Formats: sequence, C-alpha cells, structure tokens
Amino acid sequence: MKEYRVGIVGATGLVGQEFVKILEQRDFPMSSIELFASERSIGKKMKFKGQDINVREAVPEAFEEIDIALFSAGADISRHLSPLVAKAGAVVVDNSSAFRMEPSVPLVVPEVNPEDIELHRGIIANPNCSTIQMVVALYPLHKVNPIKRIIVDTYQAVSGTGINAVDELTNQSRQVLNGQTTIPHVYPHQIAFNVLPEIDVFWDNGYTKEELKMVNETHKIMHAEDIAISATCVRVPVFTGHSESVHIEFTRPMSADEAERILAEAPGVKIIDDTAISLYPQPWAAAGTDEVFVGRIRRDVSHINGLVMWVVADNLRKGAALNAVQIAEEMVKRDWVRPREVTK
Ligand SMILES: NC(=O)c1ccc[n+]([C@@H]2O[C@H](COP(=O)([O-])OP(=O)(O)OC[C@H]3O[C@@H](n4cnc5c(N)ncnc54)[C@H](OP(=O)(O)O)[C@@H]3O)[C@@H](O)[C@H]2O)c1
Repeated sequence: MKEYRVGIVGATGLVGQEFVKILEQRDFPMSSIELFASERSIGKKMKFKGQDINVREAVPEAFEEIDIALFSAGADISRHLSPLVAKAGAVVVDNSSAFRMEPSVPLVVPEVNPEDIELHRGIIANPNCSTIQMVVALYPLHKVNPIKRIIVDTYQAVSGTGINAVDELTNQSRQVLNGQTTIPHVYPHQIAFNVLPEIDVFWDNGYTKEELKMVNETHKIMHAEDIAISATCVRVPVFTGHSESVHIEFTRPMSADEAERILAEAPGVKIIDDTAISLYPQPWAAAGTDEVFVGRIRRDVSHINGLVMWVVADNLRKGAALNAVQIAEEMVKRDWVRPREVTK
C-alpha cells in the first residue's frame, strides 16, 4: 500500500487540530506528517499517534517533500502559499475561500462530485461549511426530482470563526452571568445570549458574502447553475455544530416519506426524525461526529412541490477537516496522487 507525506497548514487552529485527529482516527496511509502554522507557533509541539511533532513555520521551502498539503490558515495564506506548494509537486486541499470559485479549481464534496477531483491542477478547494452539509442532504433528492429553488436559513456555531471566537463566547457568557459589561472583539456585537444575522461582509445587494457563498458554491458542486437559492446566515451562541432550516421546491411533488427513503440510503446522511418523542438533529449532539443529520422532514404547506427539513453537522469535521480528508482519501483510492521519490 502506498504511503504519503502529509502536511497540515494551520495545524494549531481549530480546523488544523481536527485534521490531526481525523488523520489518526481514519488511519490515513501516511509515511510522515508535518505540522505548519505561523511564526508565532514555532517551538510548539502537537501529538500525533502518541508522538510529539514540532510545529514549523509555513514557508515555501518546507514543502519540498510533501505529497498532500491540507491548508486551513485563512485565504491570504492560501492565496500566497498554495500555488507555490502545488508547483513544488504536492496536491493542495484548501479549506479557505481563496480558490473555490476559480473555474480551474475543483470544489468538491465527495458524496456529490468526487469525479471533479480528477480535473485538478494541483489545488482542490474544500467548500464552505454551511454549503457542504446542505449539498450532502440535498443532492440525493435532486438526482431523483430536480430542485428548482432553495431557501435556507442557517444557525452557525462560533467555532466556524476560529479559536478567538470560541474564547469570545466563553468569556462573554461568564461576563453576562456575572453582571459585567461585554466588549466585542471578534463579532460586531455581543454573541453571548444573542443572535447575529451577519456572517462575513455585506455586499451591495444586501446579502452577506457567506450567503452568496452558499448560492455560488452549491451551483458549482451540484453542477446545477439554474437552481434559485436564497440564504440568510446567522451566527448563534453555539460552540460547535451548524444547523440549517432548508425549504426546497422540486420539479414535482415529493412526500416526506419518499425523501426519508432516499436519504436513508444516501452516503454521509443520518436521519433523526421522530417528533412524537422530540427527536431531531441538534448541534450539541452532532459535535464530534461525522454525519450530516437530517430531521423535521415535512411537506411545505405553502407549496405543492415544497419540502422542508432541518440539517445539522459538525462544522469543524464534515464542514471542514473531514471533507478535506475524504477528498484526499478519494485521490488515494483512485490513484490520482502519487508519492514522490524521497530525495533526502
Ligand atoms: N472553523 C470552521 O468551521 C471552518 C470551516 C471551513 C473552513 N474554515 C477555514 O479554515 C481556516 C482556518 O480556520 P480555523 O477555524 O482553524 O481558524 P483558527 O482557529 O483561527 O486557526 C488559524 C490557523 O491559521 C494559522 N495561521 C495564521 N496566520 C498564519 C500564517 N501567516 N502562516 C501560517 N499559518 C497561519 C494559525 O497559526 P498560529 O496558531 O501560529 O497563529 C492557526 O493554525 C480559515 O480559512 C477558515 O475560513 C474554517
């Protein structure tokens, strides 16, 4: 069995730490692992399979011996470093938004469009967390009954913004409970005990960049440019696990039973749906798991071809690190990445 030299860029971050856990848990075929972060992390150690690994600075020269580079250090670093790493011979799976809409860069969710991976020229983009969980749940239905329109509202956890946002929710929660004043740093307003309908920057059309990512990325991944999509993305005081209320209009009517039968067979989906005992997906329960959970499946009373469902997943795992590792696994399975000769 071939083994690969894997590098993680942004290893000290929330997604990076999840990468390390997932590579361990899934026993990815690796001959070595290198962990990279910023200059600030030089000298830090992280554990991999019980071994201490030194965190190195992510500079281009450090990637000469890497076969697969998993990037999650933000779009600026990706824009600068990924092309250099790809040019040096590694395949980059990039978690940032830097290349997602580049026509020459595949944007992949392995349950939906694994065959797009083959078109890569050194960089493969991992979609936005909210988009990933939505398309995993929608694509199996779309194949049977083409979707014409999607209206989605998200309830996104603070870990989607990174470590500083997790600290902000923790600290503000304490401050509020102690009757102290909060001062927001990461978000424009207090996030503890609050809800913010603002994720990423606002565009001229009134939508946020996050909302437009859901539109554009869904079109690209599902190869379905003609689906009309409108999203409202909302940050909620949850640590991990994004939730989505998804309203779908199909070409023909689809019953809740039919949708449930299709989704029961769909890869990566788990149905949790028994309203008689208040059973439905919850972010608290999804945190730390790999599936996309679907519940509250029901006919939309406002439209003959409409269906509504509630979709929840761990944003750090399926929404980020797990999806990227699954892309790497697909490349390995299909022999679309080859370990290079070791030169030293
Ligand atoms: N969190 C999510 O749910 C999620 C989902 C999908 C995609 N993403 C994307 O993944 C990326 C990271 O997210 P995160 O949540 O892990 O953020 P995070 O917890 O804030 O971690 C950021 C990571 O980037 C590293 N970094 C920052 N500046 C760097 C530089 N100049 N050179 C090399 N490394 C640098 C940091 O290293 P230091 O520790 O040395 O500062 C740290 O390892 C972002 O692009 C984000 O959009 C996140």
